[in-house]
Amino acid sequence: MKVLVSDPLSEQGLTKLNEHFTVDVLTGLSEEELVEKIPDYEALVIRSGTQVTRKVIEAADKMKIIGRAGVGVDNIDVEAATEKGIIVVNAPEGNMLSAAEHTVAMMLALSRNIPQANSSLKSKKWERKKFMGVEVNGKTLGVIGLGRIGAEVAKRAQGLEMDILAYDPFISEERAKELGVKLMSVQEIAKEADFITVHTPLTKETRNIIDKEEFDMMKDNARIINCARGGIINEEALAEALKNGKIAGAAVDVFVNEPPFDSPLLECENLIATPHLGASTQEAQINVAVSVADEVISVLRGGSAKNA
Ligand code: NAD
Ligand code: MLT
Repeated sequence: MKVLVSDPLSEQGLTKLNEHFTVDVLTGLSEEELVEKIPDYEALVIRSGTQVTRKVIEAADKMKIIGRAGVGVDNIDVEAATEKGIIVVNAPEGNMLSAAEHTVAMMLALSRNIPQANSSLKSKKWERKKFMGVEVNGKTLGVIGLGRIGAEVAKRAQGLEMDILAYDPFISEERAKELGVKLMSVQEIAKEADFITVHTPLTKETRNIIDKEEFDMMKDNARIINCARGGIINEEALAEALKNGKIAGAAVDVFVNEPPFDSPLLECENLIATPHLGASTQEAQINVAVSVADEVISVLRGGSAKNA
């Protein structure tokens, strides 16, 4: 059987797949190229680069499984895959610690202006006054989406002695209590939090869950972080809130369009940004690749998938 890997995948995942199947690694394919090649393969393994559209799926006549080496399956037309009887799996746990650590790194970098100060010093300036920061100790962090990554961020922020508020309609009071967080509405969090971080999937309910109305409610020294998906925070409203000083700053890893070269956010001095690096650690990439390889092996040998 043949497996197509159309985005870079860690060696450990490829080795596992190679033990069982003929594996072709072909990255950077256009939709047309993918449509042309896909009929030969029983499985497709991707990360975030490949767009698995309905057109691609309709051409995938032998396909049994599509494996996403990561959390979000928003680059796969899952409805089209389901209609064609193709199993879609992800790797929900492999990169959660890396994404949580990246979020905390972004929060601390934001609170102390580290990227801006680094650039300033490297351009041979010594601007100590300009980069006055704030402590996170004793501050309130609002977590929107208290799933795997949101909960790991909450635990780490508690280690920094922050108070945690959270909004997640699917989390019970018991779970919130166990995590030591207080459940509230998005609007209450907008009013009370010093830092806000979003960790939901991008759905029709979460798109623009933080918009102009919420920015208007925030404290002037609020700071906001998005290491989940572009579009959960309205980018135009965020750019406006940053430019007019409504909030103090933002840290963003993910954008509506990636790369976000036309985004107004990149013009904001009080915004720090990374190019979708939340899962970019050696550990996470091994974890997600191995997890997806195991799923492909199981399904192509007639077994079941754990993360369908
Ligand atoms: P998860 O499924 O474990 O948690 C998501 C949480 O969001 C759940 O608890 C769910 O109840 C909650 N939720 C769903 N709809 C909601 C709504 N309308 N309002 C509030 N909460 C809602 O997912 P996760 O693994 O924690 O991932 C969270 C996000 O992080 C996803 O968007 C994922 O794609 C993204 N992610 C990004 C990176 C990166 O590289 N930046 C890495 C990993 C994951
Ligand atoms: C994910 O959904 O897992 C992340 O966006 C990380 C990625 O695959 O790049």
